[in-house]
Formats: sequence, C-alpha cells, structure tokens
Amino acid sequence: MTALEIDRLHKVYTDAYSGEEVTAIDDVSFTVKEGEFVSVLGPSGCGKTTVLNIVAGFVRQSGGTVVVDGRPVDGPGPDRGVVFQSHALFPWKTVLGNVVFGLRMRKVPRAERNARAQEFLKLVGLDGFAHRYPHELSGGMQQRLGVARVLANEPAVMLMDEPFASIDAQTRRRLQEDLTGISETRRPTVFFVTHDVDEAVFLSDRIVVLSRRPSRVREIVDVTLPRPRRWQETAELPEFRRTANRVNDLLAGDEDAGDGAGASAGDGGVGDGGARGEDAGGGPNAA
Ligand SMILES: Nc1ncnc2c1ncn2[C@@H]1O[C@H](COP(=O)(O)OP(=O)(O)OP(=O)(O)O)[C@@H](O)[C@H]1O
Ligand SMILES: [Mg+2]
Repeated sequence: MTALEIDRLHKVYTDAYSGEEVTAIDDVSFTVKEGEFVSVLGPSGCGKTTVLNIVAGFVRQSGGTVVVDGRPVDGPGPDRGVVFQSHALFPWKTVLGNVVFGLRMRKVPRAERNARAQEFLKLVGLDGFAHRYPHELSGGMQQRLGVARVLANEPAVMLMDEPFASIDAQTRRRLQEDLTGISETRRPTVFFVTHDVDEAVFLSDRIVVLSRRPSRVREIVDVTLPRPRRWQETAELPEFRRTANRVNDLLAGDEDAGDGAGASAGDGGVGDGGARGEDAGGGPNAA
C-alpha cells in the first residue's frame, strides 16, 4: 500500500520583495509505502522543506500532484502530522494537554484520549511528566513530546523536518534510537527531512537524494541494514559505511556536476568498497 505519492512535483516561488521567480523544485517524484521510513536528503536550499510543506498542505505546488492515502492533498489535514525543528508546542498547556489536543479536536471521548495520550507519552519516555509544562522540559524532551503528540493522532503520514537539528549530539543519538525503536514496533509511515547523512542511513528504509536547486531526484538509495538498529552495533557494520559513502558521493557529485569527478566512485564495484575510509572517494575537489 502506498501512503504517500509525489508525482512530478514542481515549485516556483515569487520573491515577495523583488518579484523575481525562483524555481525551487524542478521535477521530484517518489513514493512512501505504508509503514516505511523514507528520508529526503540534499544540499542546503534545494527544496527539502518545500517538498515537506507541500505534502503538509502549507504550501501549494506549481505543478505535479501529492496523494496521501489515496486522496490528493488540498490544504493541511489530520491525516498528516508534522514534527517541526523547533517545538511547536502549546506553552500554556501541560504535557498531557499538548498530546490530548488533537484527539479532542477529533472528538475522541475523554477517557480514551487520556489513555491514548498516556500510552504515547510512555512510548517516548515522558510518563511521569504528564502534568508538567513545556518550559519545564529540556529541548530533547520537548522534541519527544512533539513526536508523541503527532503519533497519538495516528496520521497516515508523519512529516519531520530536521527534528533533531537543534539538539546536542548525545541527546540526538538517543532520540534517533528512540525514533527507530518506535518505527520498528509501531510502523508509522514517516517522511523525514535531514541534511545529516549518518542520521538518514541509521533511520531509513530508503533515502531520496535530491540535487541542487532546482531539485530533481538524483537517486533513491535502499538501506538494507538489519533491524532493530542500535547506534553502537549498526554504525560498525560495513554496510553502514558503504551506504553513507554512496549517499555522500551522490551529494558531492552534485557540487561538481558535469565534470565527472565524483561520478565514477560508487557505481560499479561495491564489493571492493568495504575498506574505504571516511570519505576517501570524494576528496580531491578542495575548492
Ligand atoms: N516563501 C518563499 N518565498 C520565496 N522563496 C522561497 C520561499 N521558501 C523557500 N524559498 C526558496 O526556495 C528554495 C528552497 O528552500 P527550502 O527551504 O525548501 O530548502 P531546504 O532544502 O529545506 O534548505 P535547508 O537545507 O537550508 O533547510 C530556496 O532557494 C529558498 O530561498
Ligand atoms: Mg529546510
């Protein structure tokens, strides 16, 4: 079952000040299956957030279609839950109140919504904090709350735009492990935007690598790492480095588009690639 289908998406912005037109997305197509975790990766400014905002219904495309659960997207809706980079929480509501809010909007009966909210708070490790307020939580806990709030609504697609970008490295790793645990047990459909290659490899079933703006899909990379994934074991697998190198090559190849510098490395003999160092392949273009 396809949960999200993006077909020949095209987006031109008109600059509010100069009136100039900027083509952000040239031609982007991909699908996300039900229960799949798909990341979108690409150079800064290539249009990742734009794709996510179009899927969320916050921004309207100039061409192409987005279909969620069989229905064309036409504005925001409860079938898509968004976890933002900064915590878009209600500061005047308790932790529980934040999670319950969407359920109340959907007229879920009180007893059921409280039970469901508690269940999801437990899932993200926030049981015991139900009656605190967002400002009493650390940044990482606030981000967990954002995840719980979206999960509790059981959206057809969960949209995440660099949700861990502003969080310290150690906490980020824990949140990534927690998110991967949740996605392994509950199988939400996730569309995840990041510019962190290792994060994308660790979390994803597939990675959509976009080109520079105006963006196209350079390649969709399958991540065949076994689950459950834990940083310590997973990052040591040769397959982890191999996949990350492949993605890095695709991103680097884009910087010197045309003159073949990065193009050759990954394509043919993957088998001999196991011992490559951190980024042995991509280096020579010191710019
Ligand atoms: N509302 C807007 N009006 C005009 N141009 C915009 C608007 N929003 C985005 N853009 C332009 O569209 C392009 C893509 O922006 P977008 O934010 O989607 O990129 P991104 O890949 O998410 O970047 P980053 O990695 O920095 O988050 C950029 O050139 C940006 O300046
Ligand atoms: Mg962005």
